[in-house]
Formats: sequence, structure tokens, C-alpha cells
Amino acid sequence: MLDRLRVPGLGGWSDDPLWASFYDWSVEHPRAGGAVWRLGIGSDLRKLYDAAAEIGRQPAGSAVLDIPCGGGVALRGLRPGQGVRYVAADIAQAMLDRTMSAAHERGVADQVEPRLADVGALPFADGEFDLVVSFTGLHCFPDPHRAVLEMGRVTHAGGVLTGSALLNTSPFSHGGLRTLPLRPVGRLSGLLGPSATRDEVQTWLAEAGFGDITLEMSGAMGYFRALKR
Ligand SMILES: C[S@@+](CC[C@H](N)C(=O)[O-])C[C@H]1O[C@@H](n2cnc3c(N)ncnc32)[C@H](O)[C@@H]1O
Repeated sequence: MLDRLRVPGLGGWSDDPLWASFYDWSVEHPRAGGAVWRLGIGSDLRKLYDAAAEIGRQPAGSAVLDIPCGGGVALRGLRPGQGVRYVAADIAQAMLDRTMSAAHERGVADQVEPRLADVGALPFADGEFDLVVSFTGLHCFPDPHRAVLEMGRVTHAGGVLTGSALLNTSPFSHGGLRTLPLRPVGRLSGLLGPSATRDEVQTWLAEAGFGDITLEMSGAMGYFRALKR
């Protein structure tokens, strides 16, 4: 029911709503955007940058999948001349365009391959990637369980899946109360999916063949990392 309603003027991600530009601005501005994150969801934006730094530790010849790449915030982890194949995937063409301009600005465009893709049916082979990153993503997907299974499928044995998501918490923990107004508006606009609890994310990761699972909360945002067996 909620999925079929739309808030006029907001539109889903593929319509490139105003919210998408505001969100991209927030993640690219550590001070002002960081304050919005602290106030809005009680989360430390620097955790996102720290998690993206894992990209820069991949050896030359590795393949990295960034899904959903959005405006390209994870590119801050990619180093010029690193020699990796970096596939930036998203369901919205406008996001891929933003990622490519960010890649040019950061001098890493030669490594970045933009790809229109739905996380629920990834157009990649089993085990194609050594590292899959999915920042601020799971809560935006209509079927986060399927997304975890798909991201697991394309992760190589011994590879890593890491990312973050606005998780379903009690209103009385992890900044849950502050996010209460966001959730119904996000669902009505088509920008947010059902999301998941931390237990669900951990169970789905295990089901997708991952071990060594860690999940740490920063306000309402959960940061997970897991190793494909
Ligand atoms: C909140 S943004 C996060 C982007 C980026 N990872 C970041 O941290 O800034 C969510 C992104 O998910 C994308 N998205 C939503 N549903 C998707 C789907 N089914 N498959 C792939 N991408 C999707 C949207 O287009 C949007 O770019």
C-alpha cells in the first residue's frame, strides 16, 4: 500500500527528486552536512568516510562494486592510479552522471565504469568482485533481503561486503525517535523501503555466505562488514 502512494513533488530515486541533491550535498560537506547527519539521525558522517577508505586498500587488479553509488561519495576512498576496476552502479541515471563528474574531479575517472543496475537483479557474474560497498543503501531498496543475497552472490570467496543502512531500531535507542518522521515520508515518496533490523541484516549476511560479520551503530545508521566464505 505504502509503496504505491507517492508524495507529490518528491518522486522516487529515478525521478532525481530535490531530496537526492540535498542528500548528496550533505554527504560531501563534512562540517555542515555532518551537522545535519548528527541532528537528523544522530550519526557521525565521518564513519562513512572511514568505511569508504577500505576501497583505497585494494591491490591493483582488484574489482570493486559500489552499489548504490549515488553521487559518488565512496569515490573518496579510491586513489588516482590505484589500478582497480571500479564499477559504480545505481538505478538512477542522474546518480551515475554525478558519480562520473565526481570521478573526473577526483582524477579517478579512468578506473570508474558507470552501470545502470537494480540491486535486486545485478547484471554481474557470481564472484565477480573482490570488494562490494553499499553505503546508505539497504533502507532505500524495496527488498533489502534480496539485495543482500545479490550482493553476496557477486562477491568473490575471500572478498568483503561492507556498507551502511538506516536500520529499524526501537524509538528509544540509537536516535530512533529522531528518525520517526523521516520513515513514513520516505516510504510515501518511494525513496525508502522497509529497511531491516540489525538482527535481520546479520541473518541475511550469514545466509548469503558471509562470516566474520560486524555491525556497529552510529545513531540510527548501522555499519556492517563481512567476509565471504
Ligand atoms: C541515499 S542514496 C545513497 C548513495 C550513496 N551510496 C551514498 O552513500 O551517498 C540511495 C541510492 O540508492 C539508489 N537506489 C534506490 N533503489 C535502488 C535499486 N533498487 N537498485 C540500485 N540502486 C538503487 C538511489 O538511486 C540512490 O542513489
